[in-house]
Amino acid sequence: MHTPEEKPFFMRDPWVYDPEKQPQPRPDAGLGFDTRALHAGFHPLKNVEQFRAFVPPIAQSMTYPYASFDKFPDYIYGRSKTPTTSVLEERLAALEGGESAVTAGSGSQALFNLIFTIARPGDNVVTSLNTFGEGYKQAATIFPERCHVEFRFVKDYTNPAAWDRAIDSKTRLVWVETPSNPCLQVTDIAAVAQVAHARRVPLLVDNTTVTSALQKPLELGADIILLSLTKFLSGNATVLGGAIVGPEALVEDIRWNTTEFVGAILQPLEAWLMLQYLETLSLRMERHSSNAQKVAEFLATHPKVTQVNYTGLRAHPQFDLAQRQMKANGGLLSFIVPGGMKGAETVMDNVKLIVHAVTFGTSRTICMHPRTITHEHMTQEERDEAGIADGLIRLSIGLEDPADIISDLDQALAKL
Ligand SMILES: Cc1ncc(COP(=O)(O)O)c(C=O)c1O
Repeated sequence: MHTPEEKPFFMRDPWVYDPEKQPQPRPDAGLGFDTRALHAGFHPLKNVEQFRAFVPPIAQSMTYPYASFDKFPDYIYGRSKTPTTSVLEERLAALEGGESAVTAGSGSQALFNLIFTIARPGDNVVTSLNTFGEGYKQAATIFPERCHVEFRFVKDYTNPAAWDRAIDSKTRLVWVETPSNPCLQVTDIAAVAQVAHARRVPLLVDNTTVTSALQKPLELGADIILLSLTKFLSGNATVLGGAIVGPEALVEDIRWNTTEFVGAILQPLEAWLMLQYLETLSLRMERHSSNAQKVAEFLATHPKVTQVNYTGLRAHPQFDLAQRQMKANGGLLSFIVPGGMKGAETVMDNVKLIVHAVTFGTSRTICMHPRTITHEHMTQEERDEAGIADGLIRLSIGLEDPADIISDLDQALAKL
């Protein structure tokens, strides 16, 4: 056993955030988003020695032979990286405009890997209640109880000074999800980045709900990106995956701690599928957004709907900020029906085309009840603060003809 004083040769120095250090410019920074979605990380004539493939091939192999005793291959063993996950990681980094990326088995695992890597017992993370359910559960239970990492939930999240007040010398990360799932609350990325950087703390933005096709947090000042690949990035509920994009030294630290030693990485088949799906990301996000806008406008005028949460509606409290921060408003929205839990049940049991399921970002429209399914662990007080009403229904608007989604909702709402 190595003694605690002696640093074994395989231990890395932990990543230390330096707000003065500018990220390395990406070599593909001059290319447009859609071109990067098709080409980043793979060139048919450069990447493959044995044959020329138009599509990045899957390397479905978990070990990579040594050519000789003292010559380490680029890829050694599938627990740390494989050629196919590397192409995907490069493409995800390119789409966000970040230095580097590391994948994970899910978005929740990517969050876990990041916090586990950068926080030590006694440290804290500053966030708000505007986070996805499993993120909240990690923050409220696993990390405080098992790792003694405290999570501070900023109440007045629209006020940068409130974020500032929550930060202290033990804060290792500020974590923002915008627009948030399921209530579409918007946080000012540039303003919170400024506050965090002044206190020498990096800003993590979860870019899952609208993706890099619509929002570029790194350009607005964020340092690290959290992604669930399970949602719009794949777009059809056939892959569970996640990623962290950020400074290369941080990404390598995460890779060392949670993939190299633990194996918390995406498998080649999923990575390969993701590469196919990302090719149409931008087109899909445009259609998800225009369909969602029509559905949100329909719901906003419906007499049986008491509230609609969608950043594309002028009535959204942060409409102007949302339009500044995003290119379009994406496919996620939520709405409240009267009658609490019973009202939600009536609508959800009567939809015919829309599917009741737990995910979002799929080509088919999905509805889900956050109060009972994703945010059930919150206290009633926290749910009230976060906007998780009993009658709240989350809708992920798909790629169907919008008139059909609207008529399905119309007939279900008529049952109320
Ligand atoms: C905003 C957001 N980020 C991250 C995640 C986690 O993703 P996954 O389901 O891949 O663990 C979710 C899941 O709902 C989410 O909504």
